[in-house]
Amino acid sequence: MSTTLQNDLLIRAALSQQTERPPVWMMRQAGRFMPQYWEIKNKYSFLEMCKTPEIAADVTMLPVDLLGIDAAILFSDILVTAEAMGGDLSFEQGIGPRFSNPVRSVADAESLSTDCLDKLQYVADAIKVIQQRLNGTIPLIGFAGAPFTILSYLVEGGSSKDFKLTKLLLNNEPQLAHAILQKIADVTVDYLNMQIVAGVNAVQLFDSWALALSWNDYQEFSHRYNKYILSRIHRTVPVISFCKGSSVFAPIMAEANPDVISVDWNADLKNIKNMLPEGIAVQGNLDPFVLYAEKEVIKRKILQLFERMRGENGFIFNLGHGIMPDIPFDNVKYAIDVVKEFRY
Ligand code: CP3
Repeated sequence: MSTTLQNDLLIRAALSQQTERPPVWMMRQAGRFMPQYWEIKNKYSFLEMCKTPEIAADVTMLPVDLLGIDAAILFSDILVTAEAMGGDLSFEQGIGPRFSNPVRSVADAESLSTDCLDKLQYVADAIKVIQQRLNGTIPLIGFAGAPFTILSYLVEGGSSKDFKLTKLLLNNEPQLAHAILQKIADVTVDYLNMQIVAGVNAVQLFDSWALALSWNDYQEFSHRYNKYILSRIHRTVPVISFCKGSSVFAPIMAEANPDVISVDWNADLKNIKNMLPEGIAVQGNLDPFVLYAEKEVIKRKILQLFERMRGENGFIFNLGHGIMPDIPFDNVKYAIDVVKEFRY
């Protein structure tokens, strides 16, 4: 594990070691709430930004330079693995991700490639550029989407409110669902290992839509593949497991043996921490909507969480999910400053 970082708060917290304050980073910290993001976004498409290492590095560095967070996260998207496997991906303004060739039949599933790491080489290249820019100051977090969440985009052909087609597949054609999930899991293992070899200091697995699943289906269609991935990637860097639904699923998530579980905002974080086996850290779990509020409210709610977590090793401060695009930049900066002034 890397010990040469100037600021290794995130790594120490992820390994359940003592820190003088909680480290802070935020999901979607490099994004549309930042005016500087739009200066770049207005010149390129989202996928061009992801696929051009210098641009991906520029965007990754925005929150490092403007917010002073304790960890950078690679600028990319969870859906790039699905694209490399054969999904025809586009991002349309106001609509979000779209696959023009959704995966719904055995033939569609068979057409997905698992030998596609070369198509993701731009991510390894971006990681190398970012690490040069970071120059040992703070850790860089790599990431991938979890198989169930990726499957939902491939089946629905984009974002979905109710995951109706995905659930139809799980219920009516579980074998076909498993065949697709296994392919995604195999690509994800290769992809995360590529990121680790390229030099990320931690990785996060995003299972954003696991909350759509029942307790049994979560184990069969989500957890099983996350566990497969975590048991096959190089465990030389801390692994963070995120899902919306972690307030409920945390005890199952722990069975995959992540270093950190990232918790949505429904649960009391200390209760989750106490429920988990010794040595699993927690990340979270401020409701991102708090960042729309008055500054004194933001401060009060952060300090309330910190009081609750006082005395716990293994706590990374984050939101329960990503920053929304219309949250005022000033409020995000203020929240980060509140964290950085705090001492246990
Ligand atoms: O966190 C970061 O700053 C790193 C970059 C990052 C992005 N997406 C950039 C992005 C990360 C880690 C992701 C992960 C991601 N992408 C997830 C999992 C995390 C989560 O939020 O649950 C998911 C589900 C996706 C899929 C995705 N990508 C969606 C649904 C959208 C549209 C979002 C919307 O609100 O319209 C994207 C696009 C996307 N990914 C943008 C960014 C900055 C916006 C692109 C733009 O500028 O138009």
